[in-house]
Order: sequence, then structure tokens, then C-alpha cells
Amino acid sequence: MKILTVIGARPQFIKAAALAHAAKERAGVQELLLHTGQHYDPNMSDVFFDELGIPAPAYHLGIGSGPHGAQTGQMLAEIEKVLLQEKPDWLLVYGDTNSTLAGAVAAAKLHIPVAHVEAGLRSFNKRMPEEVNRILTDHVSAALFVPTQTAVQHLSAEGLAGPQVHVVGDVMYDVALTMAERAKAHSTVLERLGVQPGGYVLSTIHRAENTDVPERLAAIVGGLALVAQELPVILPLHPRTRKLAAEQGLDFGGIQVTNPVGYLDMVRLEQAAAVIATDSGGVQKEAYFYGVPCVTMRDETEWTELVESGWNRLVTPTSAQTVRDEVLAARGRRGEEGQLYGDGQAAGRILDILMQGPT
Ligand code: UD1
Ligand code: UDP
Repeated sequence: MKILTVIGARPQFIKAAALAHAAKERAGVQELLLHTGQHYDPNMSDVFFDELGIPAPAYHLGIGSGPHGAQTGQMLAEIEKVLLQEKPDWLLVYGDTNSTLAGAVAAAKLHIPVAHVEAGLRSFNKRMPEEVNRILTDHVSAALFVPTQTAVQHLSAEGLAGPQVHVVGDVMYDVALTMAERAKAHSTVLERLGVQPGGYVLSTIHRAENTDVPERLAAIVGGLALVAQELPVILPLHPRTRKLAAEQGLDFGGIQVTNPVGYLDMVRLEQAAAVIATDSGGVQKEAYFYGVPCVTMRDETEWTELVESGWNRLVTPTSAQTVRDEVLAARGRRGEEGQLYGDGQAAGRILDILMQGPT
């Protein structure tokens, strides 16, 4: 069985690690990675291949940044060429980025079955590019690998119920379980940044709905700067946010702004944080994996079970004061114990199912 896996953005390299390792050990499975080049800075791409031992991509399209249509369109044209050449049994995509959509559409048009990992997630906000990408991808997929029962219900409500839907757990949890101890043992990030376990807030911001709305970005940065007057705040800054904050002339005050960090340092920063304040999808879940209270600076989340279980709280960033108050109030908060995202064996299950062929 030949799988062509399309990846392009930071969270997809991390998600891809679990299946790439499982595929290497499975007889009769060949996985080829295609990197679209959506993310290209070394600290947004190469670092994850190195740290997570992900095989080098067989194809690198080098497409880079651009408006949605141009970026997705270029990917679509180039992925089609690779598919015609490789004729894989499956085209596999993760999540909801433009790389995901391009891969799914290219394959569906060539009648190559699409496997979508992290299917069935919904924010019910179609102004988000991610919501458009994930809905379209789900509807052209032959295998839908979902992390939770909530995702099954979302698919069912759109007429996507049946043997093509598989609840397998979350591949990010697979990766977290294998890397958590390594991060604790090997990362020196806390020492390098001069922070103590339990003594700081970790934040990430990159969603268009925050970075592209000046009042929201100002409220988030201003709120974190207020927090930093009382508790250190570490902010590994996504290049998108760095660019837009600079254009807006925002003052980061006492926030410790760093470049994006590698996965091991990120996991260590998450494990030892007092609070995580983010708009990232992956970081919300990782906060839960490591038992750290999370404040999600968005109007809604796809990962509703985190809010329901009490580990996460949604905060619309209306003012700096609101952000500050919510972040500081989250200290010490805990939620219900449980295992919301499977048992860390999602990748193996996905391979088992793919080996049976499309239903
Ligand atoms: C993309 C995904 C988003 C995901 C995020 C993960 C889409 C529509 N969005 O958002 O769902 O949560 O990745 O991080 O696919 N840039 C660099 N260097 C890089 C990459 C990006 O400087 O290596 C800058 C460029 O100015 C670029 C901007 O960041 O225009 C945005 O990059 P892009 O890949 O378009 O979207 P993300 O915001 O990263
Ligand atoms: N991440 C990282 N370094 C950083 C920020 C995030 O390694 O500086 C990791 C994080 O641990 C998680 C993933 O990147 O595994 C989340 O990606 P991101 O927030 O970019 O995208 P999203 O999950 O929102 O799509």
C-alpha cells in the first residue's frame, strides 16, 4: 500500500510524526511525504523534522506564502502532477490548512481516495479559513478519522455517517505521549528563559481572526503586557503575528517575546506553565495533556470537550483588562480527569484501516 501524505504547516509536521513512525515499521506500507512549503522558516518547519525524526519529504513544492486562492491553487496544480506520477492508494491529509484542502481536492478529482485525519471538527464559523477547508475536505474524503464522538455527530449532521467514519483518537496525543519525557529530560528552555516551573504564563497567538483585527490583537498584546507586570509571560511569536503587530506598532511591554520554538522546548514550556493563553488548536489540547489550565482567546473552539470538562475557558479578547483578568484567574483551576483523546494508539489504528482499502 502506498500512501502520499500532504503536509505544509507546523502542526501538520507534528501530527505526521506518529503515522510516519508507525508506517516505517509496518510491512507492506510505503508512505511518501509531500511538503507544500506553506511554512518554510527553519523554526516553522525543519526543526520538527529533526526533533521528531520525520523522514525527509519525497517532494517539496516550495510554494510559500500568498493569498488563499493563489497559494491553494498553486498547491493544487503541483500536487496533481505528483499524484499522476505516483498513483498512490491513498492521499492522506491532516487538519484544516490550505495544504489540506489542496491535497484533498487534487486527489478527489483524480479518483484517488482521500483519508482525512482530524475530520469532523467544526467551529460553525465559516469566516475562518480553517472551517471552509475542513468542511470541503471532509466532503471529498473516503476515510474520515475522527478524534471524538462529538466529531462523529458533526459529520452525521452533514450527511456523512457510515463505515467511512472511524473514531481513532488523536494523533497529537500519540506524539505527546512519546515526547513528554524526552522534553522534560532534555529541554533547557526554562533555564535559558530564566523562568521557574509553575511561575509563568505561556502564550501563542496566530489566528487570522485575532491577528487581522487590530482591536483584538491590541487587546491580547495589551492584556498579556498587563499580566507580565505580575507574572512572567513567554510568547513564542508566530511570524504572521510578528508582522502584523509591527505594522500596528504594538508595544509588548514586559512580555518575553521569542522566536517560534522547537517542539521539545514547546512541550517543556507547556508542561511547566501556570496558565496557557492561546488561540491555537493544538496548544489547547496540549494544555490538557499536561494538566495545565488554558484560556483560549477566541469566540468559539472546535475542541468543545475541553471547555465542558473545565480545563479550558473561552475569552473573547474585547479589552486588555478582560484578557489580563481571565488569564490571572485561571491559575490553579483544574478540570475533570479523563482521557478525551484516545489512548495514544491512533496512528496504528489509522494504518490498520487504510490497509483494508476504501469502504
Ligand atoms: C496556517 C493555517 C492555520 C494554522 C497555522 C499553524 C491556513 C489558512 N492557515 O496559518 O490554520 O493554524 O498555519 O501555524 O492554512 N510566515 C513566515 N514564515 C513561515 C510561514 C509563514 O514568515 O514559515 C508568515 C508569512 O508572512 C505568511 C504568514 O506568516 O504570509 C501566514 O502564513 P500562512 O501559512 O498563510 O498562514 P498561518 O497564519 O501560518
Ligand atoms: N508549537 C511549537 N512551537 C511554537 C508554537 C507551537 O512547537 O513556538 C507547536 C505546539 O506545541 C503544537 C503545534 O505547534 O503541537 C500547534 O501549531 P499551531 O499553533 O501553529 O497551529 P494550530 O494547532 O492552531 O493549527
